[in-house]
Amino acid sequence: MKYDIVVVGSINMDVIVDVPNYPEYGDTVFCNSIKMTPGGKGANQAVTVASLGKSTCLVGAVGKDSAGTQLLDNLIFKSVDTAHMLEIEGEGSGTFVCLIDNTGENTMAGTKGANDKITEADINRVFEQIEAKILLIQMETSRESILAAAKAAKAKGMYVILDPAPAEGIFEEVFQYADLILPNKQETERITGIEVTDRETALEAAKKLRSLGIPDVIVKMAENGSLVYQNEEVNWIDSIKVKAVDTVGAGDCFAGAIACALLDTNNLVEAAKFASVAAGIKVSRTGGQDAIPTLKEVQEYIAVASN
Ligand code: RIB
Repeated sequence: MKYDIVVVGSINMDVIVDVPNYPEYGDTVFCNSIKMTPGGKGANQAVTVASLGKSTCLVGAVGKDSAGTQLLDNLIFKSVDTAHMLEIEGEGSGTFVCLIDNTGENTMAGTKGANDKITEADINRVFEQIEAKILLIQMETSRESILAAAKAAKAKGMYVILDPAPAEGIFEEVFQYADLILPNKQETERITGIEVTDRETALEAAKKLRSLGIPDVIVKMAENGSLVYQNEEVNWIDSIKVKAVDTVGAGDCFAGAIACALLDTNNLVEAAKFASVAAGIKVSRTGGQDAIPTLKEVQEYIAVASN
C-alpha cells in the first residue's frame, strides 16, 4: 500500500478538563467542563495530515475495549487508514487526562496502555507492506516500535521526522535515524540541557541537536515562533498572533503540517511557515482533533495575511 506520509505513534482517549485556574496541590476545584475526545500524538498527527489533504495511515495500537472501537471509528471518519492498527487483547487503550486553564496552557498525565505493546515484529511486518515518502514518529509508543519504525523507514529511503514528545519518553538511540527533529522548549532542554529562554539559547540548542547527528532541526518556542536550523543556516519563523484557548495537540498539528508542506515544497523554511499557521489556527479554537484546520482554512489564512 502506498501513502504520502506514514505515522507510527500513539492513540489515546483524552479526558479534557477545562479549569479556570490550575488547582493548588491537594485542592479540590470545580471545572468549566470535562469532555472525552480522541487524541494521542500519533493520531493527532495522522488526522492533521489527512485534514491537509495527504494520504496517510496510523500504525499503532488500541486495546480491545470500547474506547479502542471509538478511536478506530474516529480515524476512519477522519480519512486516516486504519489497515495497520492493532487491537490488543487484555490491554486498555491509552488514556490521558489533560488540564487546560484559561490561558490555553495544558498539563497532562496519562497511561500508554496498548501503545506500549507494539513490538518490533509488528512494525517490521507493516513496513514490508507499505511505501511512503515521509515517516512521522513521536515518543509515546514502545521504544522497540519507535526504533524499528525509524530503522525500517531509513532502509526504505524515507525522510524521518522525529517529534521527540513527550519529554519523558525521549531516548537518544533513535536520533541516528532522524532527518528532522522538532522539539519544544521542554524537550529541547531534556535533550541538550539548554534552557531555551530567547533566540540565543534556541540557536545554541539547535547547534547541539545538530551535533548529535540530526541534519535538520526546528526548535519550537510556542507563541515566540520557531527556529529552523538547516545546513548551518538560521531562519526565525513567527507564530501567528492568536488568542490561545486550547494548546493540546498544537505540536502534533505542527508536525503533521510540516510533513505535508515538505512534500509539496521540499523547503523546510516554507514548511515551517505553513505549519506555524496550521498550529496557530489549531490553538485558537477548542475541540480536540476537530479544531485541526483543513488545507483550505490554512491557505485562506495565508492569502489574507499576505494581502
Ligand atoms: O500532544 C497532545 C496529545 O498528547 C494528547 O492528545 C494526549 O493524548 C497525548 O498523547
